[in-house]
Amino acid sequence: MAKNIVVLTGSPRAGGNSDQMAEAFLRGARSAGHLVTKISTAELNVAGCVGCGGCYGDESHPCCHGDDFNAVAPVIERADVVVFAAPLYWSTFPAQIKRVIDNFYCFYAAKRPVEGKKAVLLSCGEDTAYNMFDGIQRAYELILPVLGWSNAGMVLVPGVGEIGDVEKTDGLKRCEALGRSL
Ligand SMILES: Cc1cc2nc3c(=O)[nH]c(=O)nc-3n(C[C@H](O)[C@H](O)[C@H](O)COP(=O)(O)O)c2cc1C
Repeated sequence: MAKNIVVLTGSPRAGGNSDQMAEAFLRGARSAGHLVTKISTAELNVAGCVGCGGCYGDESHPCCHGDDFNAVAPVIERADVVVFAAPLYWSTFPAQIKRVIDNFYCFYAAKRPVEGKKAVLLSCGEDTAYNMFDGIQRAYELILPVLGWSNAGMVLVPGVGEIGDVEKTDGLKRCEALGRSL
């Protein structure tokens, strides 16, 4: 059955390594007949959570701030699968996508029925240390149960720094295969 898949990209570099991973994943998902939406969080105006508790003051205001998150929230709510495609920034999510994730607090605080979704993590980084993805992977794994989501797969590509480096790895093939397999 066709799934509704939302890909949140986290890099400000359009066409960069994690963006290419997102595109490969989307190619796979589309070829399997899924409905896909891609949102570049770096292009959004999102102030970020201030913990005010004013979440869902009304249906059109998931966040108290009148910013772009209010258009993103219903897209997330409708999704069967949420994909986080982001490079490592200081061992975790870049601020651009982290601000959007912080605003997921509104789902939790307002007890929105978001549980049961699948999630995917696509990430890359310049380092090659065996534990370089520990920070982002652990954050991702700890976020999911709070939302009632479960992991449907990860592709983590080390050793890619310059734009296009990911093309020299098997990362894009793995992203496409994961997108197709959902
Ligand atoms: C602010 C910043 C922080 C970074 N921190 C890390 C890091 O902690 N570990 C790492 O392996 N690479 C780090 N990198 C390198 C990027 O993860 C790497 O260049 C990646 O391929 C960028 O992906 P993109 O092309 O999708 O933007 C950092 C890059 C920037 C700009």
